[in-house]
Amino acid sequence: MAKVRGKKEAKLSKSKHKLTEAQIAVHWKEEQYFRPSKKFIAQANLKDPAFVKKFSERYFPECFDHYANLLDWDQPWRKTLDTSNPPFWKWFVGGKVNACYNCVDRHIAKHKNKAALIFVPEPENEPPLVITYQELYKRVNEVAAMLRDFAQLKSGDRVTIHMPMIPELPITMLACARLGIVHSVVFGGFSGEACGLRAADSGSRVLIYADSYYRNGKKIDHKGDADIAVATAEKEGQNIDKVLIWRRYAGHNTSEAPMIMGRDFYVDEVLKDFAGQTIEPVSQDADTPLFLMYTSGTTGKPKGCQHRTGGYLAYVTGTARYYQDIHPEDVYWCMADIGWITGHSYIVYGPLALAATSVLYEGVPQFPDAGRPWRIAERLDVNIFHTSPTAIRMLRKAGADEPKKYNYHFKHMTTVGEPIEPEVWKWYHEVVGKREAVIVDTWWQTETGGFLITTKPALDLMKPGSAGPAALGIYPAIWDETRREIKPGEDAAGNLCIRNPWPGIMQTIWGDPERFVKQYYSKYRKNPKSKKWQDWPYFAGDGAMVSADGYYRILGRVDDVINVAGHRLGTKEIESACLTCSKVAEAAVVPVVDEVKGRVPEVYISLKPGILPKKAVEDKVIATIETMIGKIARPKMIHIVPDMPKTRSGKIMRRVLAAISNTMDTGDITTLANPDIVEQIRVLVQGRHVGPLKEGPADIKMFGEET
Ligand code: PRX
Repeated sequence: MAKVRGKKEAKLSKSKHKLTEAQIAVHWKEEQYFRPSKKFIAQANLKDPAFVKKFSERYFPECFDHYANLLDWDQPWRKTLDTSNPPFWKWFVGGKVNACYNCVDRHIAKHKNKAALIFVPEPENEPPLVITYQELYKRVNEVAAMLRDFAQLKSGDRVTIHMPMIPELPITMLACARLGIVHSVVFGGFSGEACGLRAADSGSRVLIYADSYYRNGKKIDHKGDADIAVATAEKEGQNIDKVLIWRRYAGHNTSEAPMIMGRDFYVDEVLKDFAGQTIEPVSQDADTPLFLMYTSGTTGKPKGCQHRTGGYLAYVTGTARYYQDIHPEDVYWCMADIGWITGHSYIVYGPLALAATSVLYEGVPQFPDAGRPWRIAERLDVNIFHTSPTAIRMLRKAGADEPKKYNYHFKHMTTVGEPIEPEVWKWYHEVVGKREAVIVDTWWQTETGGFLITTKPALDLMKPGSAGPAALGIYPAIWDETRREIKPGEDAAGNLCIRNPWPGIMQTIWGDPERFVKQYYSKYRKNPKSKKWQDWPYFAGDGAMVSADGYYRILGRVDDVINVAGHRLGTKEIESACLTCSKVAEAAVVPVVDEVKGRVPEVYISLKPGILPKKAVEDKVIATIETMIGKIARPKMIHIVPDMPKTRSGKIMRRVLAAISNTMDTGDITTLANPDIVEQIRVLVQGRHVGPLKEGPADIKMFGEET
């Protein structure tokens, strides 16, 4: 096995102004390989090496017809890939297809009595709810009829859905897809304000909400967020005509927030008028948008990743089949939230297109105790399990021996969203997977639609900590800042890029095609005039290394994005929130290593002249971040500093702050305009991290501003 030795600092692009996640993740040690079991290989969807060869570069792009052929098309495509307007690729040109038909209607003939969704409520005394394909068909049709005839929505309109993990969420998404309405699902944990901004950006005039849901043993009142979302959208110039509210218990109110007459409607009441109605799926051109998914980027404003119907559905169906090994008889449980891309691709569209049973769990994994996931798996006989390293770390911490107590058997497990430490991987394999399950560590992004780097579960060896080789039909490259390619086995890291387009890649950023080109293609494109896909590599924004065996190890973000517990947060978004507090003069947000969540944001603020650094200011900043973005963005700490380290041109040196927060070497600071501040901040911050004085004015007395 090739040896790639540990490096103190990965040789990444050396940005002057920030220390990136990728630069913080600097450990590299080769791990031993693990083999898939013979039993798994015997039943796997992908065990023929000849199939893999069909995806080599010489068969590109037609190799992806294999994925598209997994769907039922209303009209076949004429051309697999049209590159005439790079990087706005068109896939399966001339083809017509409906995503809802492929996930629901086409399974009725063979699987109508099979469970499509099994909803597991968080309260353990509420039994699981099984929704068969037949029932799903009925419910999706009724909701589609309501969206068309009551909400007056049609193909191409956008609708914003801010809902928790209840079955009405995928039902609503599929009803939208049936009509060609572009859904934009906002993660339930985001604030009403964050939802309102996204609704305004997408031009939605209808919001779909839930009244309440359970999380960590508490009933969360969600309807109130709808009122904030409407007010925020209206402030941005977007009127909301209707708010449709699903009730957690049909017929019973569980929210304190009042209903606004003529604007707010309970879905269960409106649906009475549509009982038993069916609606023909509306055939869509392959390239019509299916949904928007907002994600954090390098500027303050989240961007709406626009995904297409045909290419996206083909890509998630193919990857769910070959990498997750989903067969129609499997019970598949992905613990992600549908409000993120993982849930869209690998709870809803991929598994349902393959007629699997997809489990939906409402709550947090460790409620009421760390045995909950394993009880669910045992009860429902789940055999494919999918979660994030953060959840694995949390469950391991809360009950390392817990899985052994339960009689479930996984054949396959997926991990996604962040780098997984080899020791955490090994616990997942040995204790959760009982050494029977294969693991795929899948690297991808909101933008990419589906997996791009992962092992082929029956064909490749697993290596803890490395996502694996490129997925079928994906040709990556790692380049440094000077476009020198970093070769397999080279002891260096660089920027991970994908040289070719693939059907799952987003179409554009909603309403901002220029930003799409700039963000993903301007860095490495060879010639802006070229019509050849070879000249338009996709820049992913992640640092990576590749070892001699061709396995990629993802180090983390190289830009202003922090990956918190597998969720993306823009540092600029958090900084903008801080700056809305009237006492804050400057704000800088940096990623800090966290034992459970991988990375968390830490906030540095300096105050306006004459303002005293009190705990109340910190509280205000935290509350503002939670209101404007949501609890997921809650910083680990707020440091009030007398001044920020700055370059002579006045730029805040986030690199220095990140180094301090992560107890790393601050590097050369002699060129700063105010090098003395660095030591002051270091003493302040590192004192807070290890010392007993965690908060309160005592530890900020050193500035002499408070007595
Ligand atoms: O930094 C990479 C990390 O998550 C980012 C994408 O985040 P998001 O768009 O929210 O999608 C998450 C689910 C696909 C990437 O840029 N990431 C994702 N998967 C992995 C990963 N880092 C390491 N290993 C992975 N398997």
